[in-house]
Amino acid sequence: MRILVIGATGTIGRPLAKLLGQRHEVVPASATKSALTADIANADSLQTLFQKVGPVDAIVCVAGKAKMAPLAQLSAADFQFCLENKLMGQVNVVRLGMPHVRDGGSICVTSGVLSHTPMPGSAAISLVNAGLEGFIRAAALEAPRGIRLNVVSPPWVTETLQAYKMDVPGGRSALEVAGLYVEAIEGRAQGATLEFSRKG
Ligand SMILES: NC(=O)c1ccc[n+]([C@@H]2O[C@H](COP(=O)([O-])OP(=O)(O)OC[C@H]3O[C@@H](n4cnc5c(N)ncnc54)[C@H](OP(=O)(O)O)[C@@H]3O)[C@@H](O)[C@H]2O)c1
Repeated sequence: MRILVIGATGTIGRPLAKLLGQRHEVVPASATKSALTADIANADSLQTLFQKVGPVDAIVCVAGKAKMAPLAQLSAADFQFCLENKLMGQVNVVRLGMPHVRDGGSICVTSGVLSHTPMPGSAAISLVNAGLEGFIRAAALEAPRGIRLNVVSPPWVTETLQAYKMDVPGGRSALEVAGLYVEAIEGRAQGATLEFSRKG
């Protein structure tokens, strides 16, 4: 398969691109560090990327920023940033990317554990993560030409917890998390949120 990975230079994206690259042709893209760059929060930039890349069998988005801060400190602009970047950025990856995906292909975007297991400071992130999962469930019902739409909900990634010196249980390595995306792309899931067992 020919697979466009948006966010290929990130903590999860790096091992994911490597894993997919063992069996598929990976086209890496990211905000600044890849040969192909795009800003998911900018629809024109996404359109340019999809046109440059041409037809693919799958698109994976492992990008998306949102702000973590106490509710009382989250401004309207902070919420707007989260909505435009992680939520609408990935909604637009699906909407604008779909015409460039071959029949029977797939698109996979990224939510996160905070959609269902919030913590103080996660109100804005939990909002966009839950929104993405709802969007994918519904949009999959209307996906044309046998295209599958799914979302991966990563748990806390061990490398991220270590980098930020956070003590949160249930972390998984970025490589293990990358496996969820491979399952979404190579499997038959449709409209699903792929995650590890919530107890696991
Ligand atoms: N890490 C975790 O513990 C964790 C847990 C749950 C959910 N998630 C979610 O998983 C996704 C990836 O997380 P991560 O930790 O791998 O992130 P990361 O290490 O910060 O990497 C982000 C990747 O996205 C690219 N990127 C950033 N902003 C972009 C934009 N506006 N347009 C296009 N690409 C952009 C970056 O490109 P450059 O390198 O070129 O700047 C990089 O490739 C995010 O949606 C995050 O919320 C992560």
